Amino acid sequence: MPYLSPALNVMVTAARKVGRGLIRDYGEIENLQVSMKGPADFVSTADKRTETKLIEELTKARPGYCFLTEETGVIEGPDKSHRFIIDPIDGTTNFLHGIPHFAISIGLERDGQLVSGVVFNPVTDEMYVAEKGHGAYLNDKRLRVAARKKLNETIWATGIPFLGRPGHELFANELAAIMGATAGVRRFGAASLDLAYVAAGRFDGYWERNLNAWDVAAGILLVKEAGGVVTDLNGGSDALNGGQVLTANEHLHPTILKLLKEAGRAAKG
Ligand code: IPD
Ligand code: CA
Ligand code: CA
Repeated sequence: MPYLSPALNVMVTAARKVGRGLIRDYGEIENLQVSMKGPADFVSTADKRTETKLIEELTKARPGYCFLTEETGVIEGPDKSHRFIIDPIDGTTNFLHGIPHFAISIGLERDGQLVSGVVFNPVTDEMYVAEKGHGAYLNDKRLRVAARKKLNETIWATGIPFLGRPGHELFANELAAIMGATAGVRRFGAASLDLAYVAAGRFDGYWERNLNAWDVAAGILLVKEAGGVVTDLNGGSDALNGGQVLTANEHLHPTILKLLKEAGRAAKG
């Protein structure tokens, strides 16, 4: 059984409760998909409603904590040492298109350190939790990152930039380098779940640029507590606020870092 600190327990309860509403909203998408107007407005309302409900639930249990959220931004509370970092729906494009791969992501910082994390996919009912120093779990199962050492047997997750996002050429170079050296690359469309899948040993690793703290806060803790290495794309330690993540087990991490750096130089030169 996972170790649930009182705060982690509050986060799990909030994610489950709010997740039920999200499932109902997801059910509506199918109907709207075929309508002339499409589901875009509905999804943006669902996104905001989900976030409001999460903030309500968490504030009820932990009044005074600060928040950093995708839809609202910064909410200051009197307790400056605690901050929830929330993405109400990570994988919004999947949600919008009726693809059942999205999650509620909640991280908790204490004095600037990630201490608890929850990533919950309400469709598959997969609840990923981590508590600093107490490991990462998927439902009741303890998680370990994959132990593979041979690069040619590994699979990698990433995020592909799209219309309006920077770094297309750089990404194309990175992809060419990684796909030429590994057993494959996946783009599933939810950064929080990419990290959760690395923690679960499903993916051997993951890299992405132009991320926000709410995409990765909970997931970073999951991977670290599952024994993985998490850095930015220069090998530096601020993956949470630096907007870039590279993660893998300790054997693969240096090799992939080197490949990505070389690919980056080629894109610039
Ligand atoms: C996005 C997803 C996606 C990643 C994007 C994020 P959203 O978050 O995590 O996988 O590639 O960079 O913005 O918009 O679905 O919450
Ligand atoms: Ca997100
Ligand atoms: Ca989101």
